[in-house]
Amino acid sequence: MKLSAMASGIRPSSTLSISAEANRRKAEGVDIINFSAGEPDFNTPENIKEAAIRAINDNFTKYTPYEGIYELRKAVAEELKTEGLEYAPEDIVISNGSKHAIKNALSAITDPGDEIIVPAPYWNSYIDIINMVYGVPVIVQTRKQNIFKVTRAELEKAYTPKTKALIINSPNNPTGAVYSEAELKEIADFAVEKDIFVISDEIYKRLIYSRHLKHISIASLGEDIKKRTIVVDGLSKSFSMTGWRVGYTASDRELAKAIANIQSNSTSNINSVAQAAALEALTGDKGEMINMLKEFQHRRDFIAQRISDIPLLSSILPKGAFYLFVDVSKLLGNSVRGTLLNDSRDVADVLMNSYGVAVVPSDAFGVKNYIRISYATSMRDIVEGANRIEKFVKQNF
Ligand SMILES: Cc1ncc(COP(=O)(O)O)c(C=O)c1O
Repeated sequence: MKLSAMASGIRPSSTLSISAEANRRKAEGVDIINFSAGEPDFNTPENIKEAAIRAINDNFTKYTPYEGIYELRKAVAEELKTEGLEYAPEDIVISNGSKHAIKNALSAITDPGDEIIVPAPYWNSYIDIINMVYGVPVIVQTRKQNIFKVTRAELEKAYTPKTKALIINSPNNPTGAVYSEAELKEIADFAVEKDIFVISDEIYKRLIYSRHLKHISIASLGEDIKKRTIVVDGLSKSFSMTGWRVGYTASDRELAKAIANIQSNSTSNINSVAQAAALEALTGDKGEMINMLKEFQHRRDFIAQRISDIPLLSSILPKGAFYLFVDVSKLLGNSVRGTLLNDSRDVADVLMNSYGVAVVPSDAFGVKNYIRISYATSMRDIVEGANRIEKFVKQNF
């Protein structure tokens, strides 16, 4: 019996695997600080949990329309309106997390062999999802000097007549970079001129740490770019709802219908109770969400300062999301406890095995020489993890 070529080529998500390994060791009693998970440590806000409990008690437990309940799609459309995006509820499809929304979007636009441009560093699942829909990922290296934000010139070089779409992600995982309006305009002009789609992954849009900086969706920059953009968002990160699995796409009506058809034959509607919870998240009190945002900012400031105080390490202050992307290139080429550090994977291995800190090496994101620290964990762990990383550098270099 032989698996399909597609299935054989798919790797497990590297970030989820590292986090699972850290949790496995923790369960065995090993003292591990887990900086690898892209998952807030907070509980889901009380009002959201209560809405779900009410939904169960009201027997809201049957199939719903496969594209999601109308009230929730309307709530999404109303939130998008506040960002200058005019979508009707009919343009929104509620999916099982934004990962599923991205899979739906790529399924709707990709023919076998179509090229999808992915700027690196990228969220690791983009590549595997593209492969799952028989597309061809075309990875574009960006420059540190530009805070790893892709430019039109870089996109031009990657473009071929087979290019079908490009993916952008702002705020970015793993760098925390946030694109400005001018930067997005350049990308939008490119996409419109080349007549390609844009998948805009905006899952971290509510996690921006400056009052002077606003999230801008590329789709808000004019009708031409809006009709070729599929906006993707989800509630996992900003409402601490990772397990509920709620995401969505907002797109042109024809695309929304195609996405809904795909979903109707794969997962049907997402969990009915999670939809009730999501409706409360978007329309109810946001006090707990705002407190989480403040706490993330506090943690970001702390960990960024601690890392910049450690000799040989450096990072760029992230403007959004909850990751610090740390340059470890000055450590490479040295041996630690008999292991030669050739790349960021070796750095991550030593940190995990000898210092009890789980981080994600940047190879998972398509670039070399960095590790990603997630600060979506408790302040106690952040302090201890920073101490251990400092000890690792001071003891060995
Ligand atoms: C950039 C990015 N997009 C999408 C997702 C998927 O999130 P979910 O499927 O929980 O909505 C993640 C999760 O780590 C992410 O970092």
